[in-house]
Amino acid sequence: MSYPSRVKIVEVGPRDGLQNEKEFIPTDIKVELVNRLSNAGFVNVEAASFVSPKWVPQMADGAEVMAAIERRPGTIYSALTPNMRGFEAALAAKADEVVIFAAASQAFSQRNINCSIEESLERFEPVALAAKEAGLRLRGSISCAFGCPYEGAVAPANVLKVGQRLIELGCDEIDVADTIGVGTARQVYEVMRMVTEQIDPVHVSGHFHDTYGQAIANIVAAMQAGIHIFHSSVAGLGGCPYAKGATGNVATEDVLFLMQGLDIETGIDLNAVVDAGQWISAHLNRKSASNAGNALAARNKQGAAAC
Ligand code: HMG
Ligand code: MG
Repeated sequence: MSYPSRVKIVEVGPRDGLQNEKEFIPTDIKVELVNRLSNAGFVNVEAASFVSPKWVPQMADGAEVMAAIERRPGTIYSALTPNMRGFEAALAAKADEVVIFAAASQAFSQRNINCSIEESLERFEPVALAAKEAGLRLRGSISCAFGCPYEGAVAPANVLKVGQRLIELGCDEIDVADTIGVGTARQVYEVMRMVTEQIDPVHVSGHFHDTYGQAIANIVAAMQAGIHIFHSSVAGLGGCPYAKGATGNVATEDVLFLMQGLDIETGIDLNAVVDAGQWISAHLNRKSASNAGNALAARNKQGAAAC
């Protein structure tokens, strides 16, 4: 079985993780979460969303978050931008990377961004041009690549088609996203193989949610298909307001534990992420959704007590 010697982990907790929280999280908590994650060594942290605050109220303080975070040299701070208005805000907030987000399913596209897939790609064109002109990195997300909460099965050909369009728009990376966490290992392997036969895997990431507990297996399957960029969320935070019933992203702690066991380098301090995961979960008044995070926190506590 061949695995990469190194993977890139994009931490999406501050955005994908927090966007679905019902209670408004104070800006200083969001800022501290980003700072803790930066200090853990991530080279890419998704920190904000410049979307309509009517659609996603939790992300309304994106500009304030971006203004207050400590920028770690070498870390890319990303922001979601559904249109030019979002792009202008992300540019003003000094985002290093903007994320345009499409879907492989029409119904999800309508519910999430209120337009068809085709309309969304047209809307992203000026955003992509402006991002390139401003010298920003550009990422393109493909939601519902493995299933849709409204349409059910999604044809892999749709994923490839949207992926190719996003690459044509100039995306440095495209995210093949299991928004509702329904993908299984064989399906993930097949879809990722199909995508990477047409698009160089250096431009492709896997974004998995863990609704059915399959995310770690899906990451292994994706690595076997040649993928070496993954998204994850500290403490398994997350969910999408337009994907009812979907739980959080795969927990970063679980992904790092997996990589450690496979001797795959990430450059990230697992203990620092465990601490960040326990800290944000305490703030949210809940137990962390990361099995590895909870086990390591308990072990670290026992170790400290034994001393
Ligand atoms: P719309 O209602 O069709 O558009 O929304 P609109 O142009 O009529 O705007 C509606 C209102 O929003 C107007 O305000 C605009 O000014 C304002 P009003 O006149 O009613 O007072 N507005 C904005 N405000 C701030 N920033 C902006 C902006 N744009 C318009 N950029 C729109 C269309 C795209 C704006 C809306 O549908 C939207 O914001 N959707 C975002 C939904 C979202 O953020 N979903 C979660 C992220 S995707 C995700 O999580 C999946 C991912 O993780 C991968 C995966 O797991 O699959 C990426
Ligand atoms: Mg997501």
